[in-house]
This record gives sequence, C-alpha cells and structure tokens, in this order.
Amino acid sequence: MTRPRRRLVVGNWKMYRTPSQAEALARAICDPVARTVGDRADVVAAIAPPFTALPAVAPIVRLHPPVALCAQNVHWEDEGAFTGEISAPMLLECDVRYVIVGHSERRRYFGETDATVAARTAAALRHGLTPIVAVGETLDERERGETETRVLAQVRAALDGIAAEMLVRVVVAYEPVWAIGTGRNCDPAEAGRIARLIRSALPDLDAVSILYGGSVKPDNFPAYLAGGDVDGGLVGGASLDADAFAVMVRQALPEDAR
Ligand code: PGA
Repeated sequence: MTRPRRRLVVGNWKMYRTPSQAEALARAICDPVARTVGDRADVVAAIAPPFTALPAVAPIVRLHPPVALCAQNVHWEDEGAFTGEISAPMLLECDVRYVIVGHSERRRYFGETDATVAARTAAALRHGLTPIVAVGETLDERERGETETRVLAQVRAALDGIAAEMLVRVVVAYEPVWAIGTGRNCDPAEAGRIARLIRSALPDLDAVSILYGGSVKPDNFPAYLAGGDVDGGLVGGASLDADAFAVMVRQALPEDAR
C-alpha cells in the first residue's frame, strides 16, 4: 500500500507586498492557520512572499511551525555571476523549505524552459528544499487538443532521471495557464483527470502530492479536494486575503477534523 499523500495549501503572493506589508499579512495568516493545523502532519500550509520579504516573514513563520516558508524561484547554481537570481543556500538561510519552480508566469515572461525548470528542480532537491513544479497548458494548446501531450512533456522534462527516493519529496502543481488570475477555474473533474495523467507520467509518482492552481477560492476549493486526485491548491490572488487563506487551509483538513 502506498502512504497517504499530504495535503498542501500554498499561497503564491507573486510580486505583491513590500517587506513591511508582508510581515503584517504573515501575522494575520499564521495565527489562525497554526491553530487550524495544530500538530497534524498530513496537512501543510505554506506562504510564498517575494524574495525581499523572506527575512521579514521568516521569524513569524518560525513561531508558527505548521506554516512553512516557500520561495517563488531558485537558481540551479549555489552562487556565481547570475545577476538577479537567488540560490538554494540563500533561501535555506531564510528558513525557506518549499520553492515554486516553473510557474507559467516565469515560463511566459522570463524565458523559463523545460530545461531550466529541470535544473532548478534538481538544485532544490539537492539542497533539501521541496520543489513545487508547476505545469499546465495554454488556452491555445488546450484548443488544439494538446493538453495531455504538453502537460506530460513538462512533467517528464522536470522529473525524469530523478531517483525514486528523491521523487517522493516533489510536489507537482497543475495550473492551466488560462485559469490563472482569470476567475475562470478549471472544472474540478478535469483537474482530477489531469492529476491522474500526471501520476501516470512516471513510475513512483503515486506518493507525490499534486496541487491544482488557477483561480482557486474558498467557494471552489473543496470541489477539487473531493475528487481524491488533487491534494491541495497553489493559490494566487485569494492567498493575499488572510481570512480566505485560513478558510482554505481548514477545508484541506480531513472532514472529521474541520
Ligand atoms: P490565481 O493564481 O489563484 O490568482 O489564479 C494561481 C497561481 O498563479 O499560482
């Protein structure tokens, strides 16, 4: 029998909040979320502020162990002449435990490719960070009937060749590009189907948590979890609302614990 998969609710703050604003938001989030999660190991809440806010948010997260700190990207080298990049050792010193890799905004606006996503994923794993590998098709790709091919290609490019004992530490986020920030969320049954497809991409993906992302809010999040194939959410806009984020973390608890 495979071990039960962890549920994960990740708030991607994108390029929102200065360090002082981020500190206030982290305070508003951490108390209710820590009370909700308690000492459960099966549900994790993580927040991903901009890099500049990590040092301000880290001490607050440290006081609330059920909340983990996540970064929005990581470079594949430990240091070097890579202007504008941040490395895993730098993140570790800020208490970061998770890192989003290959977000579609990185792929679309900053030239992120399947190859650089693979390099960043490997670097995260090498340093003990948990990579949250984001994959998903554009509207054009969906309309051309290329959803499955594109998603499988992204998953395989990022994860092929990673040893099985490392692979269990990976998290995959299925984020259809057309659903991000548009208010047009993917049908939960379709998200479940793609999550199953992702698990079929490689051996050993059974234990890997798969998140859905794209216009997730408290009123649609439970439907994604209900199908049993999606293990959590990568939440953008709604994660900047402390109350909404706390509600979604509660929704991720097993029914008898809510
Ligand atoms: P959204 O963003 O929830 O605002 O659609 C999701 C994401 O970009 O991860």
